[in-house]
Amino acid sequence: MKLHMSSLCFSVVLSLILLPPLSSATYQKLSGGSSLSVENPRDILVSPNGTFSAGFFPVGDNAYAFAIWFSKPTCVVHNCTVVWMANRDQPVNGRRSKLSLLGTGNVILTDAAQLNVWATDTASLSPVQLQVNDYGNLLLSNSQGTILWQSFDSPTDTLLPLQSLTRYTALVSKRRKANYSSGFYKLFFDDDNVLRLLFDGPDISSVYWPGSWLVSWEAGRSTYNSSRNAMIDSLGNFSSSDDLIFRSADYGASWIQRRLTIDVDGNLRLYSREERDETWVVSWQAISQPCTIHGLCGENSLCGYAPSTGRKCSCPEGYKVKNQTDWSYGCEPEFDVSVNASEFSFIHLRNAEFYGYDISSFNNKTLKECEAICLQTVNCKGFQYKFNGNGFYSCFPKGQLRNGQQTPGFDGDIYIKLPKAYISYNNKKPFKAISLDCPRNDTIMLERSYAKSLENGIVKFMLWFASALGGVEIISIILVWWLTSASQEKNIVAQQGYLLAAAGFKRFTYDELKEATQNFNEEIGRGGVGTVYKGMLPDGRVAAVKRLNEANQGEAEFLAEVNTIGKLNHMNLIEMWGFCAEKKHRLLVYEYMEHGSLAENLSSRELDWQKRYAIALGTAKGLAYLHDECLEWVLHCDVKPPNILLDSGYQPKVSDFGLSKLLDRGKLYNSSFSKIRGTRGYMAPEWVFNRPITSKVDVYSYGIVVLEMVTGLSPTKGIQFVHSIAEREMEYRSVNWVKEKKKESNSMESWITEIVDPMLEGNYDDQKMETLVEVALHCVQEDRDARPTMSQVGERLLHHRENEN
Ligand SMILES: *[C@@H]1O[C@H](CO)[C@@H](O)[C@H](O)[C@H]1NC(C)=O
Ligand SMILES: *[C@@H]1O[C@H](CO)[C@@H](O)[C@H](O)[C@H]1NC(C)=O
Ligand SMILES: *[C@@H]1O[C@H](CO)[C@@H](O)[C@H](O)[C@H]1NC(C)=O
Ligand SMILES: *[C@@H]1O[C@H](CO)[C@@H](O)[C@H](O)[C@H]1NC(C)=O
Ligand SMILES: *[C@@H]1O[C@H](CO)[C@@H](O)[C@H](O)[C@H]1NC(C)=O
Ligand SMILES: *[C@@H]1O[C@H](CO)[C@@H](O)[C@H](O)[C@H]1NC(C)=O
Ligand SMILES: *[C@@H]1O[C@H](CO)[C@@H](O)[C@H](O)[C@H]1NC(C)=O
Ligand SMILES: *[C@@H]1O[C@H](CO)[C@@H](O)[C@H](O)[C@H]1NC(C)=O
Ligand SMILES: *[C@@H]1O[C@H](CO)[C@@H](O)[C@H](O)[C@H]1NC(C)=O
Repeated sequence: MKLHMSSLCFSVVLSLILLPPLSSATYQKLSGGSSLSVENPRDILVSPNGTFSAGFFPVGDNAYAFAIWFSKPTCVVHNCTVVWMANRDQPVNGRRSKLSLLGTGNVILTDAAQLNVWATDTASLSPVQLQVNDYGNLLLSNSQGTILWQSFDSPTDTLLPLQSLTRYTALVSKRRKANYSSGFYKLFFDDDNVLRLLFDGPDISSVYWPGSWLVSWEAGRSTYNSSRNAMIDSLGNFSSSDDLIFRSADYGASWIQRRLTIDVDGNLRLYSREERDETWVVSWQAISQPCTIHGLCGENSLCGYAPSTGRKCSCPEGYKVKNQTDWSYGCEPEFDVSVNASEFSFIHLRNAEFYGYDISSFNNKTLKECEAICLQTVNCKGFQYKFNGNGFYSCFPKGQLRNGQQTPGFDGDIYIKLPKAYISYNNKKPFKAISLDCPRNDTIMLERSYAKSLENGIVKFMLWFASALGGVEIISIILVWWLTSASQEKNIVAQQGYLLAAAGFKRFTYDELKEATQNFNEEIGRGGVGTVYKGMLPDGRVAAVKRLNEANQGEAEFLAEVNTIGKLNHMNLIEMWGFCAEKKHRLLVYEYMEHGSLAENLSSRELDWQKRYAIALGTAKGLAYLHDECLEWVLHCDVKPPNILLDSGYQPKVSDFGLSKLLDRGKLYNSSFSKIRGTRGYMAPEWVFNRPITSKVDVYSYGIVVLEMVTGLSPTKGIQFVHSIAEREMEYRSVNWVKEKKKESNSMESWITEIVDPMLEGNYDDQKMETLVEVALHCVQEDRDARPTMSQVGERLLHHRENEN
């Protein structure tokens, strides 16, 4: 008997375990006169194939909202992905609340106190029914099939495929990650018919996408189509009546679940996942530079980028944070604001801006003049001082310091007004300038976000991939490596536990790569950092495998660096597929580029004018992305034709970026000049004259590469060693030669004709050529501050092209 009991118990337990999840029970339809109760967990409407469910969703302590969520893959209700809510701002009690479909055709949501919290306000004489369909739409229809009401017409923060965003609807973000109430970010069609993102906060409201400084047409948007309609189709193509069109990275796969959500961090993201996966992956996002999103950092604070968390806020010198847990309160002055005007002075913040709130603006002012203006203006908190394209500086005194950001790419400075007494008392440096990473100087290192513990001989690494650069809140791709090390580094048995990435990023074993490259047989390139071999991966993809020379750093560091490089995703950057770290071996696996490098193609007839222009533009875009658009800024430091690879369509992809970090730092620092990254002929004067290295070194090298593409002349020919300034002068040959030609001639065409590569046989577009040469000369200026940024170069070349065509 006892035995029987226990086996009975066992079978009860078993049946409990095997019991299908709650969501699979319940209703497909609700008919007139019936209701769903918050107290019965089985009161859920499920779509015919189970993809979506509708029911009461817990949103807080004993608080519920009527919601629709993804129910495939099966999930525990509280962490299912919600796509719609009826009463996000007015949750109902966990007892006695009900959603009822009245016989009159109205759907009402009542809470414990019998209050009507929400209703569809519909009426019908014929019988009605409520159901959720497989697209996630909650439909109220009558017996003739007429739709009286549908949830697709009143979205919350998510747009599903085939759901229209119209002039009457908007997406509004959640308040916080775990608070489903209406937040401050909004996606909507404005009065100009343009789809925009708006920060609509408690005390300010401002549009931040498309960039508020761009006119619609510059952002590629049309203001003319007043139909105001946007939708994602079932294959992942988003199109809007203002001409905004984009595709999901996994475009074409109709079985993939997708949702376009305005996230709590103000970014608009398209998420995708396969039905069997629980993790959503970002397959498109509106904003790649999260600091351009307004509202995160409140008044007087500055947004900056931090490698591990994405963006972070900070207070400038003289200000302190108001509320450490909520940066939207911003910073407040630490000093006495009532001191006399004459008692103020300024501290200087480089590469920073506060957007908007200008008291006025003045052109062609010296710094002293601008300071004087701000001192005389009582409510001036500081000023923006910015080089103007026309050759002088502009001064913008600020009445409020809002929408602040500090990014290396921004070439303007902020001067903050502080009492002299305060500045001298604290005698501190102003807010720490953001530094960039380059191998020459050892002092700058990015913070790392991997955790390391050495317990029981197990080394755990968790590398977080905040996929295509976005995830501040949502970490969409998670990489977890469990590395079991038996005895130190010698004997690492790497066990690939759980590796998940949209791009198929993978850890390879040394043997796999040895086999893939047939014992490193076919060498396709050799450079300062290593040798590259062609290989075929087990899955049939052709790859370029780079074997690093002097990489004798620890495995942990290597993995962290690989993680960083792996995060950089851009169509004009070479894509990394994986890596190998085993004993002393350090290898990187890249996509293989059919047409090799620009260097190999420069003397080929294949490279016609169109291709050269496209290469110049693509390279600029890739570098601009490295410099400012990704979360961790990376300087390339070795831009030259061998590092610009060409795909089958001759689109350029910059390679070899980020590698500086993979080499042993100490060695590099002590190594001879020839080992320093950068290649003679392409190196900016800063390297030789030992001046600080900024992203402008890449701009310089880029300019030289463009001149080489235009003239067909290599800047390195005949140069053996460059140790002295005199020898350095020789490098300027090609630059000077072009400049001389320009000076000698007074008509544009004639000198252009003289410098252009004869291989082009005169087949080029005069105006575009002029733009290209101008841009290149602009880039190779001695004074690094006079050079444009890579994104400015990109804009210039891009717009020329668009205006032409
Ligand atoms: C969500 O935020 C709103 C606004 O701040 C607040 O009123 C509400 O109580 C919050 N809800 C929860 C569940 O914390
Ligand atoms: C769902 O919630 C449970 C319990 O809170 C948690 O253990 C689990 O990790 C969550 N699942 C996901 C996918 O977030
Ligand atoms: C459910 O139906 C939707 C719409 O037809 C379809 O996209 C999805 O793949 C289906 N899911 C399953 C599990 O059948
Ligand atoms: C996406 O939709 C737009 C507008 O309907 C269309 O012009 C474009 O060709 C579509 N793209 C694809 C790849 O289907
Ligand atoms: C306006 O946009 C709608 C929806 O995208 C499109 O169907 C229509 O053709 C457009 N009208 C014009 C005049 O371009
Ligand atoms: C800081 O902000 C949090 C969240 O809004 C709030 O709960 C807390 O009371 C605030 N603290 C102070 C000191 O204002
Ligand atoms: C400002 O300066 C004037 C003259 O220098 C002085 O009389 C006045 O007291 C000062 N005010 C404050 C608030 O220090
Ligand atoms: C700027 O001002 C200076 C002195 O006032 C003047 O000499 C110069 O021509 C001005 N430059 C421009 C571009 O207006
Ligand atoms: C490295 O950078 C630091 C801080 O910017 C600077 O003080 C130092 O002189 C630099 N070293 C070299 C070798 O350039």
